[in-house]
Amino acid sequence: MKYEFPEGFWWGSAASGPQTEGVFEGDNKGDNIWDHWYREEPEKFFNQVGPEKTSYFYEKYKEDIQLMKETGHTTFRTSIQWSRLIPNGTGEVNQKAVEFYNDVINELLANDIEPFINLYHFDMPMKLQEKGGWLNRKTVDAYVEFAEKCFELFGDRVKKWFTHNEPIVPVEGGYLYQFHYPNEVNMKKAVQVAYHEVLSSAKAIKVYHEMNLDGEIGIILNLTPSYPRDETNPEDVKAAKLADAFFNRSFLDPSVKGEFPTDLVELLKEIDHLPVIEEGDLETIKNNTVDLLGVNYYQPRRIKAKESSEKLADGPMPDDYFDNYIKPDRKMNPYRGWEIYEKGVYDILTNLRENYGNIRCYISENGMGVEGEEAYINPDGSIKDDYRIEFVKDHLIYMHQAIQEGSNVQGYHMWTCMDNWSWTNAYKNRYGFIAVDIENEGKRTVKKSGRWFKEISDANGFD
Ligand code: NOJ
Repeated sequence: MKYEFPEGFWWGSAASGPQTEGVFEGDNKGDNIWDHWYREEPEKFFNQVGPEKTSYFYEKYKEDIQLMKETGHTTFRTSIQWSRLIPNGTGEVNQKAVEFYNDVINELLANDIEPFINLYHFDMPMKLQEKGGWLNRKTVDAYVEFAEKCFELFGDRVKKWFTHNEPIVPVEGGYLYQFHYPNEVNMKKAVQVAYHEVLSSAKAIKVYHEMNLDGEIGIILNLTPSYPRDETNPEDVKAAKLADAFFNRSFLDPSVKGEFPTDLVELLKEIDHLPVIEEGDLETIKNNTVDLLGVNYYQPRRIKAKESSEKLADGPMPDDYFDNYIKPDRKMNPYRGWEIYEKGVYDILTNLRENYGNIRCYISENGMGVEGEEAYINPDGSIKDDYRIEFVKDHLIYMHQAIQEGSNVQGYHMWTCMDNWSWTNAYKNRYGFIAVDIENEGKRTVKKSGRWFKEISDANGFD
């Protein structure tokens, strides 16, 4: 069978500023929460590798953009580091950062690769975090100032903007499950942080639209379809629906429909966990929904009704309402321990088509992390990552099916281009089309998957 994709389909990959640029103290960059946390507690990071050792994109972006061309990229997403552009989070703009991001954008365009720019990728400037970060309403204003500056500086050439990447992750990581700074467990704070992120996104969208630039703006969400253990058991179904409300609809509904999901609001009201909302906020959210949606998909969520009485924390937690379980016959990524469920991508796209007005979207991340992949380099220097090719192809097949059935999908970005630094996991799992040898000044090697991707991008499909 031949899998052909719509004309002009976007082929590429995604990355982020904090995970690729490196040089965290160089060229007037301010600290963000990662720089700070690493200095405070380096033992929290895999092999104690911190953000200074990211993929050298700051120095090597020209070489990398050539490699993007060699691997068939027609589009590429990265983010502008807030603390590089505005070191104190608000106020003075760092001219070295303006030069750098201008150079990157111009170099991409000169090579016919369309830049997709995201504004917030988990990288709160430390100066703002000291005053509460997303917990503090003033951070919303600072973020809108940052967004407006980015649109002003780069909006003449960048046509695809995103307000946030995976905004649920700073909520889960920072305030529920302790894998992001400030590493707390407090659901009341988690809800307020989520609310401020939603509001900040709507406000940035408003500003962007008011500027009448030639382009569009959206948000990137990691959607984890929640499957009940037993579809005929109402308790399992109810539990899966709540997990979906917490982790998907909490951001999907306000971003696309302009309103929060009623079941989530009711639940938060019952436990006295509604956030502080100011007058006019809900109108702003209602009137400023996204032009397009990025969907990050890696793995599903398997849910069953709450069985254990064990509590994860003193106060309420989402996990009070459901249990996660491991599906016995699941297919696994043996190198990462995550379930592989290709049909999940089809289910997400079908849901968007049926319940979210078939919002225009693209797969903004999908990919396979492999622990220790650098050790699999063959003596001739090549990396034969057939498992990654199979993973991407299987997801593309399901995506293709959704498109055939009418889903409004415009492209596919794999995570990621060059292997990069993955927060507290540092370089534990490699995801790229291109290997980066961090022991050898970031030397690049195109993997087999990178060459394969060029073929499918050139053919706009595969057999
Ligand atoms: C999602 C995030 O956007 C990115 O920062 C992360 O490194 C990848 N997934 C891989 O886990």
